[in-house]
Amino acid sequence: MAGKVITVSSVKGGVGKTTMVLNLAGIYCGLNKKVLIIDLDLYSGGVAVSLNVKNDKDIYMMIDSMANNRFTELKKYVVTYNNNIDILPSPKDPRKAMKVESRYIPLIFDLATREYDVVLVDTSHILSELNLTILDYSYMSLFVITNDLVDLKNMKSLISIFRDTDKRNYLVLLNNSRDTGKDYLSLYDIRTIIKNNIDYTISKNYYIKNIDRYIMSGDILTLNSKINAFHSNDVSNMKKLALDLIDDRHGKEVKK
Ligand SMILES: Nc1ncnc2c1ncn2[C@@H]1O[C@H](COP(=O)(O)OP(=O)(O)OP(=O)(O)O)[C@@H](O)[C@H]1O
Ligand SMILES: [Mg+2]
Repeated sequence: MAGKVITVSSVKGGVGKTTMVLNLAGIYCGLNKKVLIIDLDLYSGGVAVSLNVKNDKDIYMMIDSMANNRFTELKKYVVTYNNNIDILPSPKDPRKAMKVESRYIPLIFDLATREYDVVLVDTSHILSELNLTILDYSYMSLFVITNDLVDLKNMKSLISIFRDTDKRNYLVLLNNSRDTGKDYLSLYDIRTIIKNNIDYTISKNYYIKNIDRYIMSGDILTLNSKINAFHSNDVSNMKKLALDLIDDRHGKEVKK
């Protein structure tokens, strides 16, 4: 099997990356794809907690085994959420986070894409060497932005770097469901600021008032039929986005 690595990233914290990773996982699960979520927000990862799974295994244990020739199979380091979704959690001990060096990324992605259709990577918003390596080795990346001037200016800078380096395998998602009060910039303004198209938008209707209740019980929003029925427009956009991200026409520039 040759799965695809899809990374969700941003230039600002708290814009809805982790929520988007989980929502995409739910959608791919609904399409009966085998999904691995890798939590590469190493210092403050929240995937295992949000899905309420035991993280007695993590990515540090995996690379530690690799470094000491003890590694046998990926399966030993992932936790299961449901029939279709597994998780490779961020280090339980944040002091171990710095040990997860970027040189392991190609190896981990290679192992993961052999066993899963879609490998969803959650990241931190810092443009570190690790995150640049993750972007380099991803089939597609999704940049989540919000209606926020600083966020947009930083996105503009990053997009101009992408242009200079001829990087094209990314999509931009405007998330209006996080800061529902912030809508002073129009879609036209936003496009003008970042000098790029907005590929997808999540509307402010998708603001889930009691989202913490779902997080506490480890639910994925897109696997909840009530939420899906109530927010059919946004869910249908997310489905289009999910299919677009794994479309075969992308990602010719991925490093192997
Ligand atoms: N659709 C939504 N409705 C209500 N609250 C939301 C929604 N999406 C995200 N949130 C809340 O906004 C906060 C930030 O979201 P999230 O953790 O997904 O962002 P992030 O970009 O991963 O943040 P970080 O940069 O800290 O990793 C969380 O408390 C989350 O529960
Ligand atoms: Mg996050």
